[in-house]
Amino acid sequence: MSKKQDDDLDYETTGHQWDGIKEYNKPLPKWWLWTFYITIVWGIGYTIAYPAWPGIKAATPGLLGYSTRAEVAADIARVEEANAAINEQLASAELTQIAATPELQTYAQNAGAAVFRSWCVQCHGSGAAGSSQEGWAAGYPNLLDDDWLWGGDIEAIHTTISYGIRNEEYGDARYSEMPAFGRDELLEDEQIDQVVNYVMSLSGEPQDGSMVEAGAQVYADNCAACHGEAAEGDRTQGAPNLADAIWLYGGDFDTIRETVYYSRYGVMPGWQNRLSEAEIRAVSAYVHSLGGGEAPAE
Ligand code: HEC
Ligand code: HEC
Repeated sequence: MSKKQDDDLDYETTGHQWDGIKEYNKPLPKWWLWTFYITIVWGIGYTIAYPAWPGIKAATPGLLGYSTRAEVAADIARVEEANAAINEQLASAELTQIAATPELQTYAQNAGAAVFRSWCVQCHGSGAAGSSQEGWAAGYPNLLDDDWLWGGDIEAIHTTISYGIRNEEYGDARYSEMPAFGRDELLEDEQIDQVVNYVMSLSGEPQDGSMVEAGAQVYADNCAACHGEAAEGDRTQGAPNLADAIWLYGGDFDTIRETVYYSRYGVMPGWQNRLSEAEIRAVSAYVHSLGGGEAPAE
């Protein structure tokens, strides 16, 4: 096709015309075209250098061997290296000294909160209030109050978290088993009703007063060994205080009756095989501070 000058308008045309309508010759600007060609070359180069074309099993790897996974792994390794010294210090410090060493305590609080978010929230809740939050399943203790099943000083918490509770994975797991008084026919139905009413009377839950006295006897014979004479609980057996109106499973008649009839056997995993000692100590310090920071027993 030949380029022609439009005589009337002084524009170059492509020479096409139809019904007297002429097509002007207006090519794209050079800079635009070159940019376009460069993007094509760049695109081809990129698919050769980097992972690009999907295959049946995996995408083509690319000549540079780049992978986002390797990059993340390198990032993680970098952070771990930066924290290696303080992690080592945390793992070897006296447990009771962590809170007293500001640098360790600050680090443990932050690292511990991160461990808690990854590994503990699914059972204890993101705010650590466990079954105390609305709609949460029963049996997960609130870690914010200063009411402890197994002990609230840093060493007790560290032991609980390291080995867990009633799990088979660790020989050192916390262990105790409340008998299933109903299912295993250790008590008559009537005795169970009595002792349930007695337990309810301890924390002032509305109860059938006529059963309380008989219930107190059933309690003394069957329950005091674990829950204590005054129902104050026993941390060596993880037996909760029954007089403080703080319930793990619930304080109404039906729930207490179910607890006594079937028992509960709450299980918590241990973490020693899953987390590093520094991570366990960090989350122990974190949980310890949530619960009000109970001092070690004398
Ligand atoms: C699979 C659910 C589950 C996960 C995950 C879990 N816990 Fe627990 N945790 C429990 C249960 C259930 C109990 C209560 C067991 C009992 O009845 O004695 C418990 C008890 C505890 C206690 C003892 C509380 C007391 O009053 O003595 C501490 C401390 C604790 N958990 C901390 C943690 C930390 C920290 C993590 C994360 C590293 C964690 N838990 C992860 C279920 C879980
Ligand atoms: C061998 C020790 C042991 C004996 C005996 C025992 N308990 Fe328990 N009890 C426990 C433990 C441990 C728990 C914690 C729950 C679990 O097993 O996961 C518990 C939990 C409970 C709870 C639930 C409290 C809550 O906060 O929801 C009630 C109620 C209770 N026991 C009542 C009784 C009564 C009543 C008796 C006597 C008839 C009794 N227990 C005998 C160890 C014992």
